[in-house]
Amino acid sequence: MIVTKLVFIFAFIGAGLSMQLKQVVIFSRHNIRTPLTTNLQFLTPKIWPKWNGDTGYLTPKGRQLEVAMGSYFSEWLIKEKLLADKCSKDQVFVYSNTRERTIQTAKSFAEGAFGDCAEVYYKNMTGMDPVFNPVIRNASDEFKKTILNEMQSQLNKIDLKDAFLKLNRIVDIKDSQYCKNENICDLSEVENKIVFEVNKEPDLSGALMFGNSLVDAFLMAYYNGMKDEEVAWGQIRTAEEWESLIKILKTYHKIRFQTKLLDKDVASTLLKYFGDVFQNGSKKLYVLVGHDANILSLTSALNFKNYTLDGQFEKTPIGGKVVFEKWYDDENNRQLLRVRYVYQSEKQIRDGVEASLLHPPLEALLEMEDCAVDENGYCSWGDFIRKFNIVT
Ligand SMILES: *[C@@H]1O[C@H](CO)[C@@H](O)[C@H](O)[C@H]1NC(C)=O
Ligand SMILES: *[C@@H]1O[C@H](CO)[C@@H](O)[C@H](O)[C@H]1NC(C)=O
Ligand SMILES: *[C@@H]1O[C@H](CO)[C@@H](O)[C@H](O)[C@H]1NC(C)=O
Ligand SMILES: *[C@@H]1O[C@H](CO)[C@@H](O)[C@H](O)[C@H]1NC(C)=O
Repeated sequence: MIVTKLVFIFAFIGAGLSMQLKQVVIFSRHNIRTPLTTNLQFLTPKIWPKWNGDTGYLTPKGRQLEVAMGSYFSEWLIKEKLLADKCSKDQVFVYSNTRERTIQTAKSFAEGAFGDCAEVYYKNMTGMDPVFNPVIRNASDEFKKTILNEMQSQLNKIDLKDAFLKLNRIVDIKDSQYCKNENICDLSEVENKIVFEVNKEPDLSGALMFGNSLVDAFLMAYYNGMKDEEVAWGQIRTAEEWESLIKILKTYHKIRFQTKLLDKDVASTLLKYFGDVFQNGSKKLYVLVGHDANILSLTSALNFKNYTLDGQFEKTPIGGKVVFEKWYDDENNRQLLRVRYVYQSEKQIRDGVEASLLHPPLEALLEMEDCAVDENGYCSWGDFIRKFNIVT
């Protein structure tokens, strides 16, 4: 056992010696926010827990976790010698969408990583920054027809009856205003309709949309450390129950942002930005802060293989980061790519466990179709860039 471990350590150091980190592009989802939706009060007669702060804003705990994430990343980047120290102003570009929660997440990350030494760039506009805006852009009838067909066939396949029945019971929907006024009394019976409009996000109205709002609100309360009885009124007791409910949320997002062809269309501006950065970006580190919709459409458009994140029910955990790393392999004179998902487990988030090099966050290696990784998790930079040119 000890021998194996030693061999492993030497192999690891050996591999590390010839590998130099050249550039990193991080795409981060914002951290914990207050629940988003305005329909929550109509779906239940129960009293929702009180949140301080406006709808959809980063919470103080989200801020604290993000400062720690920033601090962890700068420790790692300095250790790998990509950055000389915490104050590498000219080497770093931090870019946020225009939403409060993304701007504050980016500022918290930058503060933890670089102290006063990095500014956060975002556009001065009230709407979404077009780079981050996951909207339908292709206005052709043919596109619409193809996408509607595909979305509908995915909707026909969903099987979430048990999850919706559980949700009915948790919120006591029979006594809700929606039941009294709109006859929405059983989520498992509410039809899902596709909302498809150019320049808007692809969306669904109906059971999945309502279910997503509810489960998201439970999840944010859980993450933010609210008391057990304030998280879904104490009615989610097991990991299996969470898993089952979060399937609603995952399905809702998957159909909206990971339907083939639609993924590339909603991510087109972001893909273009990534293409420019990977081919011509002069900074050593780019940190982009946006939304789950961005991560879902981007990873789908780039054909990432299915991945699992241990300790997380979510596909795009709050505060989680997809990290694109460009490495130079000195020994073989070649450039390589490694992509990791760096995130915290739902329990770490709830417990407010802070990240550092000594106690790193969790990570999962990601792999793309057409860019097979070797045993150390690297794939060819050239294959990656070629793939990019095909996609964008
Ligand atoms: C942002 O735009 C508004 C309206 O165009 C302008 O009044 C304001 O000065 C701008 N703020 C910054 C920081 O540029
Ligand atoms: C729009 O979609 C159609 C049908 O899928 C496709 O042929 C066309 O190239 C797309 N246009 C753009 C600008 O992506
Ligand atoms: C990168 O720069 C080169 C040379 O200036 C240019 O030809 C190319 O189009 C640029 N690529 C992107 C994606 O911006
Ligand atoms: C992806 O993996 C998850 C968890 O292992 C599984 O539930 C899901 O069905 C997989 N999806 C696809 C498209 O393979």
